[in-house]
Amino acid sequence: EKDGYPHFMLKEIFEQPECINDCMRGRVNKETHEVQLSAISEHKERLLGARRFIIVACGTSWHAGLIGKQLIETFCRIPVEVEYASEFRYRNPVIDNGDVVIALSQSGETADTLAAIELAKEKGAFVYGICNVVGSSIPRNTDTGSYIHVGPEIGVASTKAFTGQVTVLTLFALALSKEKQLINDTTYRCIIDELEQIPEKIKEVLKQNQNIAELSRIFTYAHNFIYLGRGYSYPVALEGALKLKEISYIHAEGYPAAEMKHGPIALIDTEMPVVVIATQNAMYEKIISNIQEIKARKGHIIALINPNDTIISKLADECIEIPETLECLEPLITTIPLQLLAYHIAVCKGKDVDQPRNLAKSVTVE
Ligand code: M6R
Repeated sequence: EKDGYPHFMLKEIFEQPECINDCMRGRVNKETHEVQLSAISEHKERLLGARRFIIVACGTSWHAGLIGKQLIETFCRIPVEVEYASEFRYRNPVIDNGDVVIALSQSGETADTLAAIELAKEKGAFVYGICNVVGSSIPRNTDTGSYIHVGPEIGVASTKAFTGQVTVLTLFALALSKEKQLINDTTYRCIIDELEQIPEKIKEVLKQNQNIAELSRIFTYAHNFIYLGRGYSYPVALEGALKLKEISYIHAEGYPAAEMKHGPIALIDTEMPVVVIATQNAMYEKIISNIQEIKARKGHIIALINPNDTIISKLADECIEIPETLECLEPLITTIPLQLLAYHIAVCKGKDVDQPRNLAKSVTVE
């Protein structure tokens, strides 16, 4: 059932182009290039009238939520809060019937996320679920929702569910923005066209699997890692760090790159690998200076760059090239090499990639 792959995790990483197509099927019209999400059509008034969105989730799903926040705020101009479900449920949060809570969960069984939904419902909020497992507890307890349709995810480290969640959140933000008449036709079309290219672009990244496997060997004995990104890449940095921790047991932290100088830069020395998401977007110049700050302290830089990059390719110790895309869609591409990096480092260390110690696939107890 692993289709010839040594681990489920690698199989699931390689399934992502197909998963994203499955996720878009029936939602992105190939002829008209329009997005339609049945949950939005069916609950238009409630969603258009939302004063605020609150995304509740745990772990990797929480990282997808942070990307969702940027997408929804950018395109729909509605404030979005992203909460750890476990914190939200015990905080006596300010929430009422003007709020829409989005519960993000691969398994649909995470105890804290379920409890957060119950609380939100008691307070009169409308609850929208974004889950993978059809018929699981969260979809059964929400007012509406959208499945991500990425198929069973067996590896404990979530991979294809993350990109599936980000895809659905992108569709959600675009469809709602269109309903609110906040997006012009050219931008809308341009994003949808580019979204349809993403599976092919992921295939390009996957071709680098072997290179990334070789690169990973250098880091078998690393004790720490830092991951940096800005804007849409910041949650990707958090996700890259989580993947590495959970399967290779190497301590890793994700940071917004500019936060380095407020403390973590003290950790940088020749022993510190720093993964920087350094694609050519609006933040490019800023990320170059962040890289220079790390280089000046002799950190070992692994940079994700676009193929035509001539500046960072000279500054970084190692580079992984990834195809260009629109900034708002970059997480769907930049996540892939970080999944592969974590996977190969864990394999080099001889760890049980699919069933890491102390972890369960779904956390049904709090
Ligand atoms: O099933 P869920 O999406 O609700 O699970 C949430 C987390 O437990 C999960 O994402 C966890 O962090 C993964 N092991 C990360 O790879």
